[in-house]
Amino acid sequence: MGLTYAEAIAKSKFLKAKDMMILDSAPDKTIELKKQSLFDVYDDLEKCLPKADVVFIAVKPYHAEALMRDMKPHVAEGQIFISIMAGVTIGAIQEGLGVEKVVRAMPNLPAQVGKGLTSFTAADEVSRLELSTIENLLDTTGRSVRLDTENDIDASTGISGSGPAYIFYFMQSMLEAAKKMGFSGHDSKVLVGQTFEGAVELFNTHDLDPETWMNRVASKGGTTRAALDSMDDNNVKELIKEAAYAAFDRAVELGKEFQNA
Ligand SMILES: NC(=O)c1ccc[n+]([C@@H]2O[C@H](COP(=O)([O-])OP(=O)(O)OC[C@H]3O[C@@H](n4cnc5c(N)ncnc54)[C@H](OP(=O)(O)O)[C@@H]3O)[C@@H](O)[C@H]2O)c1
Repeated sequence: MGLTYAEAIAKSKFLKAKDMMILDSAPDKTIELKKQSLFDVYDDLEKCLPKADVVFIAVKPYHAEALMRDMKPHVAEGQIFISIMAGVTIGAIQEGLGVEKVVRAMPNLPAQVGKGLTSFTAADEVSRLELSTIENLLDTTGRSVRLDTENDIDASTGISGSGPAYIFYFMQSMLEAAKKMGFSGHDSKVLVGQTFEGAVELFNTHDLDPETWMNRVASKGGTTRAALDSMDDNNVKELIKEAAYAAFDRAVELGKEFQNA
């Protein structure tokens, strides 16, 4: 995910690739990145961290504590830290690094294709001007939404952060139905993929809610109504809402687990 941001920022020309430094502890990744010689790649925090103005932290949450311990001696005055680590709070990062300017962000997977949604919130110490720079950086992977509180970030995890997996779940169900109806793997993929793409395009380009679109497809006594009635009879909408809340609750829980670790 860190590399996704680096590549998107470089592609956007907001910053030149050579103005970015990358550090990763996985040797295979650094060797590959050095070969591409697009970014300055480092193995050593001491050599790169003090020179940075903005620092992205993109490791798994269980690496956070050890990483912050290693980073702390090398942080410099005025640096801004953007963390995308799920569940690691702004307070924990401020304390772990001994810094003030921290932004907590929650991206999602479509960032890889420039269609991501990053929700973020910032510590009070981050200025308006700095926030606008951060927004520009985050927007390079798609769109960003600034939220008021960290609880909102946990809630957005349940909608946009984990959301792509809900869509894939729905797609998988439709693929399985298509295959059962006798379509080939290729045809099933086209039927499902294009249907999702078309529906999303309609939703994004018009100011109509999904209910209205559903009613435009469905007519009384018709095929779509039969499908929608079947979903309603099986309480599918409530179950999806419950699933989103399960992700939200888990995000809150992970944050508590990290603080108590
Ligand atoms: N992927 C998503 O869709 C998504 C969505 C929302 C939020 N996030 C958040 O984004 C963060 C990164 O996720 P990811 O999927 O990109 O993880 P990832 O593929 O594991 O990438 C993290 C990289 O950081 C390296 N690393 C670990 N400890 C390090 C250290 N001390 N110093 C330098 N590098 C270190 C890892 O190396 P090793 O492989 O050797 O450990 C790995 O190459 C996570 O906190 C996750 O919660 C991800």
